[in-house]
Amino acid sequence: MASISAFTAAARRLEGKVALITGGASGIGACTAKLFTKHGAKVMIAEIQDDLGLSVCKSLDPSVASYIHCDVTNEDHVQNAVDSTVAKYKKLDIMFNNAGIAGSHPKPNILDITQSDFEETVKTNLIGPFLGTKHAARVMIPARQGSIITTASVCSIIGGVAPHAYTSSKHGVLGLTRSTTVEFGQYGIRVNCVSPHAVPTPLFNKFLQLDDEGISKIYSNLKGTWCKVEDVANAALFLASDDSKYVSGHNLTVDGGFTIMNSGFCMFE
Ligand SMILES: NC(=O)c1ccc[n+]([C@@H]2O[C@H](COP(=O)([O-])OP(=O)(O)OC[C@H]3O[C@@H](n4cnc5c(N)ncnc54)[C@H](O)[C@@H]3O)[C@@H](O)[C@H]2O)c1
Repeated sequence: MASISAFTAAARRLEGKVALITGGASGIGACTAKLFTKHGAKVMIAEIQDDLGLSVCKSLDPSVASYIHCDVTNEDHVQNAVDSTVAKYKKLDIMFNNAGIAGSHPKPNILDITQSDFEETVKTNLIGPFLGTKHAARVMIPARQGSIITTASVCSIIGGVAPHAYTSSKHGVLGLTRSTTVEFGQYGIRVNCVSPHAVPTPLFNKFLQLDDEGISKIYSNLKGTWCKVEDVANAALFLASDDSKYVSGHNLTVDGGFTIMNSGFCMFE
């Protein structure tokens, strides 16, 4: 019996921790909220899709999951989401800046992109994580601990696989991660990114307008398999948990090796 409870405790890698997840109503965020609670965390889902966010919470134990309306581009909302999490669960251990948009970009060429299109993407994908990081740090600094994770993308490393605004915003969050890693080291706060390749979610479907068959034709370096929301959630779990207690400033790619390959010169079939 003792060995079973010891195993359960070891298997629950976020026991006693509190996480705030932006964009937790759908895709990667919803999957991560479920995984985090399975591992013993209490989660606050911060979203603009209220019905969907509430239904994700309902599918979880109500004693471990809550919902708050939060537009990550609005500083008052983000501040309120952090403060409400602390008021409800008494602390904040994990900030997952995950909300993001593909952006409005019927055509990818720079001459066709308006300033407001570009700003819309950067506002959600870069200003959002900036506000999330800032307000999480506000409560994590006095606690002298915390793990801040942002969902970046393979577009944080390479160009040409997404529109300019998206690529720029994801390079930006990697810069924000690295910069705050240095500032927050003195407080014991870790800051990392998780960077997926193509994952079938509403955002991705809007991006490429592919059905399931189309998705299966997306290039994958690991043959016969593609990135799934669970793969990204597992990477976020690692960065959130004490398993990564000496990992900070890292960009954890979940891309099957996609970003280290040079398609212009390759000696393998
Ligand atoms: N799906 C992919 O292929 C892929 C690849 C790399 C990175 N990403 C990144 O993963 C993250 C999650 O995306 P997903 O693929 O799960 O898509 P998704 O559309 O399923 O989820 C994104 C969520 O963010 C929410 N959101 C958007 N704007 C918001 C705002 N202003 N305030 C609060 N919430 C907001 C949406 O309502 C949605 O629920 C994004 O940052 C995205 O850029 C996705």
